[in-house]
Amino acid sequence: MVESSFAEIKDEIIETRHYLHQHPELSDQEVETSRFITEYLLNIGYRIITPVGLKTGVIAEIGEGKPVVGLRSDIDALPIKEATELPYSSENEGVMHACGHDFHMASLLGAARVLKEKEADLVGTVRLIFQPAEETHVGAQEVEEAGGIEGVDAIIGFHNKPDLATGEIGILPGGLMAAVDQFKVTFKGVGTHAAMPQFGKDPIIALAGTVSAVQTIVSRNEDPQKTAVVSITHIEGGSTWNVLPENAWFEGTVRTFDKQARQVAKERFYKVIEGQAASFGVDVEIEWIEGPNVVDNDPKLTEIVSEETQKHLQLVKPTPSNAGEDFAYFSQKIPSVFAFVGSNGNSDWHHSDLRVDDEGLLVGAKWYYYTALRLLSELKTTGYVRIIGVNSK
Ligand code: NI
Repeated sequence: MVESSFAEIKDEIIETRHYLHQHPELSDQEVETSRFITEYLLNIGYRIITPVGLKTGVIAEIGEGKPVVGLRSDIDALPIKEATELPYSSENEGVMHACGHDFHMASLLGAARVLKEKEADLVGTVRLIFQPAEETHVGAQEVEEAGGIEGVDAIIGFHNKPDLATGEIGILPGGLMAAVDQFKVTFKGVGTHAAMPQFGKDPIIALAGTVSAVQTIVSRNEDPQKTAVVSITHIEGGSTWNVLPENAWFEGTVRTFDKQARQVAKERFYKVIEGQAASFGVDVEIEWIEGPNVVDNDPKLTEIVSEETQKHLQLVKPTPSNAGEDFAYFSQKIPSVFAFVGSNGNSDWHHSDLRVDDEGLLVGAKWYYYTALRLLSELKTTGYVRIIGVNSK
């Protein structure tokens, strides 16, 4: 019966995604997207409860009382010029849904439709959280600070996964997506004529040595059983061929899944770089920006969600991704499960030619729907509450 409801809305979900794809908006600027979602949900009978403090994004509810299960989708796009040549390509020049958040929105709106049909069966409240600004990693916190997750007992979300086949859903307990740290390092020396290096202090030689030296953090300091990656992605220094510059800098990122590995990486990073700078007699400034934490799936909740998923859909064990996700912010506060939904893409996230498979939308919608119902009844009967911190890594 429910399956036929999904079959009936399939075309509409696809159309909805194409519309959203055509009208992408950058992080914290999702004004039209939010308006579209609000109207859509009002039309099908949802209560819109978006807090006034939340400038973009939409929060809506259906059902009554406790427990409350949160279903989250992100809504923002990227500053990328679309190169898919799809008939529904972005109409907003230089902005593209290159991470497939349009896929997530359309799936959640589809689930919302079927949940509305089954409203009488709900043993609690389902809260839809259309979160802004995932790409800039501030949206989850914006939602929380505005009061958007108050009272939520458990929360789920997913990201489409281009390297999973359509139909597959990947779930595992613990870390699914990495903790993200970002750094910028500036070596400050003394500029001089290239022919007379003895009169200066060369920041380029210090930088060059450091680029290799920081790779020993992963190979020599981290536990080989734990994942860590250090990538330097951008280097600048100097402006011409015959002058040694005063400054040179690089930036990049560290990805880890384990709290201790994250700590080791940071500590060793500072030590290695300060040591390198001292040995070359230059000063150094290190900026370290902590990004999202690990997306950490609650083990008990994951077991329940996996069991339910398997009844209706094709559950697979995914490879964790070294990319970050600010859903981690929710997963630190509320028992949560994050999943990967196969989108059978031609390239990876953030590529200008990324095309995702529309057939996967229904899988995402069903996952939201079945999981929401199961968690409501589970929470109603067992009242399971996670002790925050037990599972934190
Ligand atoms: Ni994304």
